[in-house]
Amino acid sequence: MYDFSEFSKYAENPIEEEDVVAERLEAHGKKVLKLNRGDPAVYFPTMKYMIDAYVRALREGNTRYSDPMGIKPLREAVASRYRRMYNTEAEADDVVITNGVSEALMFINSVLVNRNDKAVFFRPYYPLYIPDLKINGGNPIIERYSEERNWDIDTDSLERALKKDLKSRKRLKYLVITNPNNPTGTVLEPSALKELIEIAKNHGMVLISDEIYDEITFNGARYTSVSKLAEGIPHIILNGASKDFDATGFRIGFAIIPGKDSVSKEMKRRIAEYAKLRLCVNTPAQYAVAEGINNVAEHNKGIRKLVAEIEKRINFAAKRINESRYMEAVQPRGAYYLFPKLDMRSLRFKDDREFVDRLLKEKSVQITRGSGFGEPGYVRIVGLPPKDILETALNRIEEFCKVHSR
Ligand SMILES: Cc1ncc(COP(=O)(O)O)c(C=O)c1O
Repeated sequence: MYDFSEFSKYAENPIEEEDVVAERLEAHGKKVLKLNRGDPAVYFPTMKYMIDAYVRALREGNTRYSDPMGIKPLREAVASRYRRMYNTEAEADDVVITNGVSEALMFINSVLVNRNDKAVFFRPYYPLYIPDLKINGGNPIIERYSEERNWDIDTDSLERALKKDLKSRKRLKYLVITNPNNPTGTVLEPSALKELIEIAKNHGMVLISDEIYDEITFNGARYTSVSKLAEGIPHIILNGASKDFDATGFRIGFAIIPGKDSVSKEMKRRIAEYAKLRLCVNTPAQYAVAEGINNVAEHNKGIRKLVAEIEKRINFAAKRINESRYMEAVQPRGAYYLFPKLDMRSLRFKDDREFVDRLLKEKSVQITRGSGFGEPGYVRIVGLPPKDILETALNRIEEFCKVHSR
């Protein structure tokens, strides 16, 4: 027998694991309300000026292989966006263009992680951080955000955990933060970011900041990128076109490594070598995203409208969730997810997996189990659909809870 077991153990995506059931229901004529995937382009069309730029790139013959690190105009655009928005000292040469942040994570794990190395995360975490680490032989150290403090970071407990685990000290490779956060919607304060930077520095870890939702903040949040604060320590900023530019299918991500220290330089060199192995990223999409970034006036018009609409939808859903006897959620200030805790004591389910599976089969509403984010007893609900769909879905969840309550 051919043995695939190592790989299959790790290649898990909880966000899509119920797709087969949903497809079966649809084949039987059911309309499934899909609140599992955070894809803005399903509900908000990608802006016309970016589509036009994509078509123009095709017509101008940009259909060939391009620089493995990304086309120069896009790398320039990304660096200038970070300079303009956050005063970061980034140059085009500090930027690598990838097939989404997803591919940047693959590069990072392949380049930084040796067998038995460790990386630090906070739960609830974005699920796809973990598989590539494990496929490369690494293991996660998982700390918890503080739910009592609206899922903020508890740096004291992180310090204590790292001190306790002295054996891991030499093996610590990187620490990841997601800001704004998927799934909790938390936006981190500069004070928390500064403390994390100190911890990363003291333990010799590369700090990785996933900022893919950095323009999607609301409810009075004031966003700070780690990039300016982390100058002087090795760090990688991740971002891309999927969320801020509402272009998930373009598959464009950015990894910015602005440090002048030896670790940063070596990471950049190795990632550049690795990028050559997959030749390049979709060429016309890169031109379209360069225009997406450089045309600041058009972009700002689009993102303001998008965020205003998301804020309304998220707040509507949060209110409805918090009116329920069976669920309770922290009010998000960024991204577009709700992460309610289920009152498992009053519900007759073994766990969140069963809750999500039965909800789909009985009520045709697809959401994601919290255990997929490292938090059993919670669920993640995507708040992107229009109010009527959110309302129908939340009504069905409420009826479902009532029927299955003790
Ligand atoms: C926090 C976070 N990082 C990365 C990604 C993946 O992004 P990309 O489409 O650029 O691969 C997502 C997608 O939902 C995400 O929520």
